[in-house]
Amino acid sequence: MLRAAPGPPGTIDPSRPQERSLPTSTVGRGRAVAPVTSPSFPSVWSDETIEVRLGDSLNFYHVWDTPTVIMSDGGYGVLGFEGDTSDHLDLPNWYRPHIASWSKHATPETTLWFWNSEIGWAAVHPTLEAHGWRYVNANIWNKGKGHIAGNVNTRRIRRFPVVSEVCVQYTYEARIDGLVLKEWLLKEWKRSGLPLRKANEACGVADAAVRKYLDQGHLWYFPPAEMFLLLQEYANTYGDAAGRPYFSLDGVRPGTADEWRTMRSKFKCPHGFTNVWDRPALRGSERYKIHGASGRAVHLNQKPLDLVEMIIAASSDEGDVVWEPFGGLFSGCIAAKRSGRRAYGAEIDPTYYHYGVQRLAEHAGRRALFGPR
Ligand SMILES: C[S@@+](CC[C@H](N)C(=O)[O-])C[C@H]1O[C@@H](n2cnc3c(N)ncnc32)[C@H](O)[C@@H]1O
Repeated sequence: MLRAAPGPPGTIDPSRPQERSLPTSTVGRGRAVAPVTSPSFPSVWSDETIEVRLGDSLNFYHVWDTPTVIMSDGGYGVLGFEGDTSDHLDLPNWYRPHIASWSKHATPETTLWFWNSEIGWAAVHPTLEAHGWRYVNANIWNKGKGHIAGNVNTRRIRRFPVVSEVCVQYTYEARIDGLVLKEWLLKEWKRSGLPLRKANEACGVADAAVRKYLDQGHLWYFPPAEMFLLLQEYANTYGDAAGRPYFSLDGVRPGTADEWRTMRSKFKCPHGFTNVWDRPALRGSERYKIHGASGRAVHLNQKPLDLVEMIIAASSDEGDVVWEPFGGLFSGCIAAKRSGRRAYGAEIDPTYYHYGVQRLAEHAGRRALFGPR
């Protein structure tokens, strides 16, 4: 049998596909616009609902209010900007410190939207899971055939032309006393000394409480707040008096319906949407361009405002906080404002920061003149 000889030092160990021994280049492929070395805006710019900063977002997370939404649109492993890696293998290292910080500041109400290529996301997914982020859904942004417009030689690339990105939904897993919710619910019920079947009586159902809320497998459901309250009241009324309170979220008194509601992320699916988002790539006036002669697009990774606004609205309420750690032209902050949320953003590159803040300022001006849109 033919065996591959071990590679020379510095080659990749195929048994550890997430890692490489030599770092790749992070020199961006260059930008479409001339660099701005000193932006004409202060390094912290804010209006009544948005605050953005020039610099590495890692330095700012601790001063931002708790996020209900984090929109991540950072490295893709394509040298898309200064600091992006040259392939997906280094992306876990690139994202790890950010993911660790997001976990530190997230609550069970927080949703993370992770934009990337499919392989970029696949590479980073284990790091997200290891830090407590639970996969919910992979959404595909289908830019359609217009995105390649016959410009691809499939014989040369030897694969199907790519016209998609992913935007993957994660939630931050709630834990009480170190247990995930389904474990904690069962532990509290058992602690009360009541037989399992009594949980059905508590909730006024035939068998659904035991089958859904106390299940320890994939059939487990998050009990709605009213059901949590019924379980809690029953256990605290009929359970062993010595162990009370049961189902306490603060260790002092039984948990309330409102407290229970904060134990999972917010989500309202907009009507008619599936996990495939047919939406052409940005074109024409949608792209933010340099004013005047050149009319060049400022940032090649600018995201469509309608999609960004849709995910923010689906996963938060008015007044909630959105984080945009990799700001670019701050599409997340603008979308947050359009939907009545507050936003914090950062951009490390002075040129993109300059144009991003210019865009925010123009948007704020438009709002003042014409109202919310
Ligand atoms: C993919 S682009 C984001 C585009 C943005 N979503 C938009 O719609 O304009 C990523 C941006 O993150 C910036 N960036 C990379 N690392 C960063 C960091 N540690 N802190 C702040 N910004 C960073 C890059 O300079 C780049 O402009």
